[in-house]
Amino acid sequence: MSDQNADPNTGQIDNVLHEERLFPPSADFSQQANIASMSDYQTLYDAAKNDPDKFWADIANQEMHWFKPFDRVVEQNGKDVHWFAGGQTNMSFNCLDAHIAAGNGDRAAIIWEGEPGDQRTLSYAQLHAEVCKFANVLKKLDIGVGDVVSIYMPMTPELAIAMLACTRIGAIHSVIFAGFSAEAIADRNNDASAKLQITSDGLFRRGKTLPLKETVDAALEKSRSVENCIVLKRAQNDCPMTDRRDHWWHELMDGASPDCPATPLDSEATSFILYTSGSTGKPKGIRHTTAGYNIWAKKTFQWVFDWKPEDVYWCTADCGWITGHSYIVYGPMANGATCLMYEGAPNHPAPDRFWDIVERHKVTILYTAPTAIRAFVKWGDQHIEKHDLSSLRLLGTVGEGINPETWIWYHEKIGGGNCPIVDTWWQTETGGIMMSPLPGATSTKPGSCTKPLPGVVPVIVDESLTPVGPNQGGMLCIAKPWPGMLRGIWGDDQRFTEQYWSTYPGNYLTGDNARIDNDGYYWIMGRIDDVINVSGHRLSTIEVESAMVSHPNVAECAAVGRPHELKGQAIAVFVSIKDTEASDQLRDELKLHVRKEIGALAVPDDIRFTEALPKTRSGKIMRRLLRDIAAGREAAGDVSTLEDFSVLAKISADDES
Ligand code: PRX
Repeated sequence: MSDQNADPNTGQIDNVLHEERLFPPSADFSQQANIASMSDYQTLYDAAKNDPDKFWADIANQEMHWFKPFDRVVEQNGKDVHWFAGGQTNMSFNCLDAHIAAGNGDRAAIIWEGEPGDQRTLSYAQLHAEVCKFANVLKKLDIGVGDVVSIYMPMTPELAIAMLACTRIGAIHSVIFAGFSAEAIADRNNDASAKLQITSDGLFRRGKTLPLKETVDAALEKSRSVENCIVLKRAQNDCPMTDRRDHWWHELMDGASPDCPATPLDSEATSFILYTSGSTGKPKGIRHTTAGYNIWAKKTFQWVFDWKPEDVYWCTADCGWITGHSYIVYGPMANGATCLMYEGAPNHPAPDRFWDIVERHKVTILYTAPTAIRAFVKWGDQHIEKHDLSSLRLLGTVGEGINPETWIWYHEKIGGGNCPIVDTWWQTETGGIMMSPLPGATSTKPGSCTKPLPGVVPVIVDESLTPVGPNQGGMLCIAKPWPGMLRGIWGDDQRFTEQYWSTYPGNYLTGDNARIDNDGYYWIMGRIDDVINVSGHRLSTIEVESAMVSHPNVAECAAVGRPHELKGQAIAVFVSIKDTEASDQLRDELKLHVRKEIGALAVPDDIRFTEALPKTRSGKIMRRLLRDIAAGREAAGDVSTLEDFSVLAKISADDES
């Protein structure tokens, strides 16, 4: 089944996995959808491509509040791109004040559930009041336009309040996921010259209390620029407070005025930076701006999630990641959506916690990550069958490719066979979703993120920068600017140029490989660095993994290349299994299975069983570490984003035995 004709010299990637199943939207779904057919999609797509100035000017004028109208829509000079220049707006205003002015102040903005089971609902009017009060608190601590505020907090409403208070007064937030170490916080704080730290006394995770403030204290010893630290009382645990530097959130809020008009900000004012791990190990502060980002988050939310005011929308990400920024806070809230927010682990107190939440809160739209879905598959269907999930009407995934068999499970077990799935491809850098099905229009194929959204012009090229034909993999680039795109790497313009703009000048290099099939559907094939080259055939990690995962005993796996004398590289697969024991017989069976699914070319040389795979804190498999282990090298490079170090030790130890 592999495409033996692909020319190994051009750097094209063989396409070896064929997924033929097609899931059209139901007539019922399409009838009520915001975008109801492919011809509606095509009309929008063509309008955005043919006349981007008019397309985006109309949207910006209709959907955003402008303190000062913009003069120009988009200007590009290589990597320097400006959207809506001359205009002034405010993200916090667009997310809060606009809804109150429209008479929707009583609508629930956040329905929050803490891990121990405590609950709070904040209407848009209440959220607005809290944000204004906290913005005044920030001002009192001398925070203003352009100051960087570092946020290291649990998933409580106060995290969203802190973000919206920053953008209200033009302060730049840098949210750091509350699982990072003191060292990682200090690195990020120093790189950004953060002036203020916000944290909490603790965080609930799987029934335990994690002492966040102690981690922050260690970080602040090394964070030269931080002057003050605000501490939210969440876990009621004792925590040390440093005189003059540390302040309790509730004490500062007590008596703060709920009157704080939003500051008019230039369209291109930096709204936030968000650190993401780079290939060199030094984290990159991805810089986003104001108007373009806000419009992109708002429109993509409407298009992809087919959002209606009565929806209860739940994105299970953490605000420490871009998904939380764009699809918990700025996208949904710019639309006035009701967002469910959950603080804790998916398996506390039991593995059915998510389904219990969906049932009780009648969640209609669920957006989660393949890593979570694979865990649910492993934990067993009995946890799902206990609950009535009939409120769900739409499912989404983000963060990694979803293997077709996992997609089918999600569709059947969670969606009851009748919820469209939107597999959304995007990046921290893109600010919002770039490719995704539109659930009322697009027939989906399991494992494909289908088509680009209006405004996105992708191009796939080989190493000689020639666009590739159908079913030939190559480097995915974006040829035209879009409003939500990153504007830089904080403090490192050279790295920004080199990493994203120098490979294919004038085009944004995503760092992913992809192919287009005969129907014009896009398939992400993994990171460019992860391609495995076996005897001159370039194979994508996700295709090998998808073939493995289609075996009933494979829960999840990661394929990497290791050096091989004859073939250049051999395939090594790390496999976590379910419902059976590891054995040589299973190993042989899995090899046969891959041979049947893909062909002899993709049969792994090594199959290593492991209880768990090393993942980043956002759930992505760290293939770089596995490559080292497969090659018999010491795992080198930056491991600060690794979630569970014991996994690495276990895999290496297995290796030696
Ligand atoms: O490799 C792609 C993968 O995740 C990368 C972006 O990671 P990050 O910046 O952490 O943002 C994650 C949330 C948007 C991409 O370059 N990725 C993300 N979504 C998908 C995906 N790979 C395949 N399919 C997806 N839907």
